[in-house]
Amino acid sequence: MNTVLIIDDDDQLRKSFHKLLTEEGYRVLSAASGEAGVEIARKEAVDLAILDMRLPGMNGLETFRALHALEPKLPVIVMTAFGTTETAIEATKLGAFDYLLKPFDIPDMLSVIVKGLEAGRFMRSPVSLDVAPDKALGEAIIGRSAAMQEVYKAIGRVAATDATVLIRGESGTGKELAARAIYQHSLRADKPFLIINCVAIPETLLESELFGYEKGAFTGAVQKRVGKIEQAHGGTVFLDEIGDMPFSLQSKMLRLLQEKSIERLGGRETVPVDVRIIAATNRDLEAAIAEGRFREDLYYRLEVVTIRMPPLSRRAGDIPLLTEYFLSRYAVHARVDNPGITDDAKALLATYPWPGNVRELGNVIQKALIFNRGAPLNPDDIAQAISEKGRIRPSGGSDTENPLREWARRMLLDTASEHLFEDCMDHAAAVLIGEALNISGGNRSKAAKILGVSRPTLHSRIEKYGIEMETSVKE
Ligand SMILES: Nc1ncnc2c1ncn2[C@@H]1O[C@H](COP(=O)(O)OP(=O)(O)OP(=O)(O)O)[C@@H](O)[C@H]1O
Ligand SMILES: [Mg+2]
Repeated sequence: MNTVLIIDDDDQLRKSFHKLLTEEGYRVLSAASGEAGVEIARKEAVDLAILDMRLPGMNGLETFRALHALEPKLPVIVMTAFGTTETAIEATKLGAFDYLLKPFDIPDMLSVIVKGLEAGRFMRSPVSLDVAPDKALGEAIIGRSAAMQEVYKAIGRVAATDATVLIRGESGTGKELAARAIYQHSLRADKPFLIINCVAIPETLLESELFGYEKGAFTGAVQKRVGKIEQAHGGTVFLDEIGDMPFSLQSKMLRLLQEKSIERLGGRETVPVDVRIIAATNRDLEAAIAEGRFREDLYYRLEVVTIRMPPLSRRAGDIPLLTEYFLSRYAVHARVDNPGITDDAKALLATYPWPGNVRELGNVIQKALIFNRGAPLNPDDIAQAISEKGRIRPSGGSDTENPLREWARRMLLDTASEHLFEDCMDHAAAVLIGEALNISGGNRSKAAKILGVSRPTLHSRIEKYGIEMETSVKE
């Protein structure tokens, strides 16, 4: 369970935060002053802090500095009222994760919290290289094939330098894991690690997200904003899916790499920044250059140090080791005993082509474990897990074969609801929860585990959707 610390002198606000975040499944600690907040952070394992900038006594910025000195990787979200954003901007420059302008939307705030926790986990959860599958604490890069040995060597060589690194490889081959391993073994390991996914952020927002903007740079830019790159000063920025970076932004990126400086949108000032760039892509960059979608000069800047993650099909010898790793990992996750796997099932895993690479193998093992009732995984379990996954892949099969898509289409055409999206999401969530409860025999803890949500969240959803079980619900 993640622990969130709230530091705010407003009793009412602390109370409502406490209630809301507890319902969301977080453990909540709160403090009415900066001094008290820092004291809690010193004693307790805190995963994220929410800090009001206006505090009596030790002020917000001082509190931020103290928290940051205590634990530089603690994601801190600062809150500020309109008109007093300067200190919040200052805090972001010093490495605060993000800031919220009061009054804020609850969904916005929850999503910033989720992102902050994820960033914290990325920074703090260690990625070990080439360990025995049952010895891996947290995450690990598993594999002993010659191709993976090359990867480990390359990671070792580049980690402790400040070189820009490009990680290439198909989807699911472990590019992000490799990026985190490099960061964790780098000289900047105690500094921030920010992940920017060039595909996930709409093109129009990506530039301001990365480089920030001055007040008045465009309609809606009512306040100056510090971009992620400036925020990561001293640290590392992971540019995921760089092959999809809009062409217009690539020149700014090149400039950052060459001159180590940026300009905020609408600004004339050149801001020097010291960041190490690790980039990743599954795209064919050479083809993108030929098609005029990727700048050749940027490519040459990036490709100096390239690490290639091999597709799983080219290191099939690693499949048994990875299988063992995922079995022990997901069994712990699902709180079941590791059932083991039959030789026939292993043989099936060895022959499947794994287009989704290691991620797909992990998903298949996880799914097979959910359906498994204790006996060693057999070929049927594996085959079922593979096909289950295929059935919900949006690109696969015709529409009539895909009930989910057909249902979505029907909802879009037939339903006159003002809240169609929410209604559909609720409906889907209710079905999912119902099935999870069926699989777990009504055991809510187990169902929550399977779904990857906290028990309080599951509980509140069951209430919300009025889900009833045929069998009696066990706690
Ligand atoms: N060698 C490995 N050992 C153990 N787990 C791995 C390995 N490679 C990948 N994984 C796991 O597979 C999943 C996908 O890995 P990751 O996100 O790093 O892939 P990616 O190359 O970034 O994929 P994409 O291009 O789709 O973003 C993660 O859950 C990761 O932990
Ligand atoms: Mg990735």
